[in-house]
Amino acid sequence: MTTRDENILEVCNLRTHFRTDDGLVKAVDGVSFSVKRGETLGIVGESGSGKSVTCLSAMQLVPRPPASHPTGEIYFGNTDLLGLTEHEIEKLRGERLAMIFQDPLTSLNPYLTIARQLTEVLEVHRGATPTAARRTSIEMLERVGIPDAAERIDQYPHQFSGGMRQRVMIAMALLCGPEVLFADEPTTALDVTIQAQILELIKDLQTAIGTAVVLVTHDLGVVAGTTDRVAVMYAGRIVEEGTTAEVFANPQHPYTRGLLESMPRIDTPLQKTLYAIPGLPPDLGNLPTGCPFHPRCGLATDQCRKTYPDSKTVSSTHRASCWEVEANE
Ligand SMILES: Nc1ncnc2c1ncn2[C@@H]1O[C@H](COP(=O)(O)OP(=O)(O)O)[C@@H](O)[C@H]1O
Ligand SMILES: [Mg+2]
Repeated sequence: MTTRDENILEVCNLRTHFRTDDGLVKAVDGVSFSVKRGETLGIVGESGSGKSVTCLSAMQLVPRPPASHPTGEIYFGNTDLLGLTEHEIEKLRGERLAMIFQDPLTSLNPYLTIARQLTEVLEVHRGATPTAARRTSIEMLERVGIPDAAERIDQYPHQFSGGMRQRVMIAMALLCGPEVLFADEPTTALDVTIQAQILELIKDLQTAIGTAVVLVTHDLGVVAGTTDRVAVMYAGRIVEEGTTAEVFANPQHPYTRGLLESMPRIDTPLQKTLYAIPGLPPDLGNLPTGCPFHPRCGLATDQCRKTYPDSKTVSSTHRASCWEVEANE
């Protein structure tokens, strides 16, 4: 049994719904997971499965409206983040909780120099002197691979390319050494070498200060190389969760198997067409009854079409929600 002491983050039955012109969109619908100090949890799933909204909910950054206040609990240590006022969560964000966004423009202010934005974090949260804050900021920019950091720190975000802006944002997120880092497709816009450097930097931070990382990615290669555990999301829910080794070696949910089969591998012959999961990702505003994956699943039965499957125990560290899975209770 893990206790709340071991888990720096514990998400229980999180629901985040949007009211839209097309009706109620259940972007996150009953998600539970936990992350221990120093651990990396990968969240994978096709686009639109609710990965970003899960992270944004914990940071209290989901736009309200159209979203209503998320329900459930998100414990950060013993504090339920969902119960905090805007002022209280603001004190945690940037210092103890940080997020690397899919879109770097959302977190950089176009009107302030990079220096202003980075040093402010250190001065406000850490009480650093302006000189020390500038030195630390330049060091961090160098670590994320920005050339001529000492000069470029005085430029504005628009003077950086998309990839460079992504690095600035990563530097900003890592600056205070957060206890929990949500990294939402952190390296998607970057080339492979920089990707590896950034993932390495995040690993260093984990070793040095025990940061827990929630890594959102659609790249199963990244998951295999960097995560301890993985949660697979489909239509706003986690359909399979386990240690990364177990899920890769013994995937249970047909969706997880589909994701793994559609992953290019080093031994895939060049002329071979990669497998693609049939059908389209579901419309979250208009989900089918039963298991939302059933219209795309080759194993679907009447039961799958009628009732959402219970979460079944595969091992003490591996669960999956599919009627076809044999439980090992
Ligand atoms: N601001 C918004 N307004 C309305 N619906 C939204 C908004 N943001 C997200 N959604 C809905 O939530 C779903 C999940 O989004 P998201 O978490 O961003 O998916 P992903 O898994 O690709 O990160 C989307 O398919 C969309 O329907
Ligand atoms: Mg996303």
